[in-house]
Amino acid sequence: MKFSSMRASLYLNALSLATLVSGHGYLTIPKSRTRLGNEAGIDTCPECSILEPVTAWPDLNAARVGRSGPCGYNARVSVDYNKPGSAWGTAPVATYKAGDVIDVQWCVDNNGDHGGMFSYRICQDQALVDKFLDPNYLPTEAEKQAAEDCFEAGILPCTDVSGQSCGYNADCQSGQACYRNDWFTCKGWESGRCQGVDNAGLNSCYTTIAGGYTVSKKIKIPNYVSGHTLLSFKWNSYQTAQVYLHCADIAILPASGSTSSSTTLSTSTTTSLTACSGAETVTKTVTASACPSSVAVTFKELVSTSVGTDIYVVGSISQLGSWNAANAILLSASQYTSSNPLWFGSVNIPAGTSFSYKYIKKTGSTVTWESDPNRTYSVPTCTASATVSDTWR
Ligand SMILES: *[C@@H]1O[C@H](CO)[C@@H](O)[C@H](O)[C@H]1NC(C)=O
Repeated sequence: MKFSSMRASLYLNALSLATLVSGHGYLTIPKSRTRLGNEAGIDTCPECSILEPVTAWPDLNAARVGRSGPCGYNARVSVDYNKPGSAWGTAPVATYKAGDVIDVQWCVDNNGDHGGMFSYRICQDQALVDKFLDPNYLPTEAEKQAAEDCFEAGILPCTDVSGQSCGYNADCQSGQACYRNDWFTCKGWESGRCQGVDNAGLNSCYTTIAGGYTVSKKIKIPNYVSGHTLLSFKWNSYQTAQVYLHCADIAILPASGSTSSSTTLSTSTTTSLTACSGAETVTKTVTASACPSSVAVTFKELVSTSVGTDIYVVGSISQLGSWNAANAILLSASQYTSSNPLWFGSVNIPAGTSFSYKYIKKTGSTVTWESDPNRTYSVPTCTASATVSDTWR
């Protein structure tokens, strides 16, 4: 094997191992394409479709979806859920009526509960959605982004369901772009994260890494009729620079007794777009005059590793696992080369926090710590992001 191709295969192995140890979450009810892929035996880690590294917090809409598209790409098993497969996507898994309030659920893994906020979305541009319903066509990245933009415009607000409590995330302050209650919120970072939403027991839903916790909500189906469309789920992580995307194939029948759904449809589309752009303008104006309460700190560590070894950062604050190696933050090797052996990852930490930390190597169950002394860092204030650059010692 030539050196260059050997390096490429080592690199791919390091990536798939990194994905293996970081299970997170996926849409389970209605059954997402990912859940069906797992049940069919094609996807051995349904919670492992991850869009990273991206700006996931505090601006929930900032990330471009790239290859992930609105339905997700699982790099571990090389499955693109934006294209129907023989085990998923060729038929609706659930049929609803316009205006129905329905139960939805996703499953968060015990080892990858990063907190944050999530939303359910429906894109009302059927021509765009149809590109994601053709088993013989893989949408381009431009089409994936266009569909994502359409799904963003079609958020099914928490506040549309009467009686449902729609709080603001405890990790987001007034003035930040994430300060919105149309999205659903996980509990605060220190008080239960996403698993605290239901307070259900471990293994109340299926994940492959460390057992799952259900996260249940209600959404209201919009006045949109389609024999086959998509319900998209999006979870923005608070702790890590990651977004999770999934789709379920559904059908929407006209509301009982409705006579002219097309008239209702065009009216409601115009109204929601106007309201949306107005809200965005207000949010951006406020953000510009306020210092963010948390800062995305990117940890960069240069360290040569072999296949099977992953690099983590761990430290004295809860965001860095409180010195517990089991709760350390996995860094990404996606830019690793032999001449620049970079492991990196971003963690949201309250502005002004001082802490100590170290990097660790994990090879199977063996943990190797950097030598003393502990590293220290103080998070700057009035900035959205900061970077620390270190070399293994
Ligand atoms: C580093 O921090 C840990 C956890 O607080 C502590 O046990 C250890 O003594 C520290 N190491 C040094 C050299 O100060």
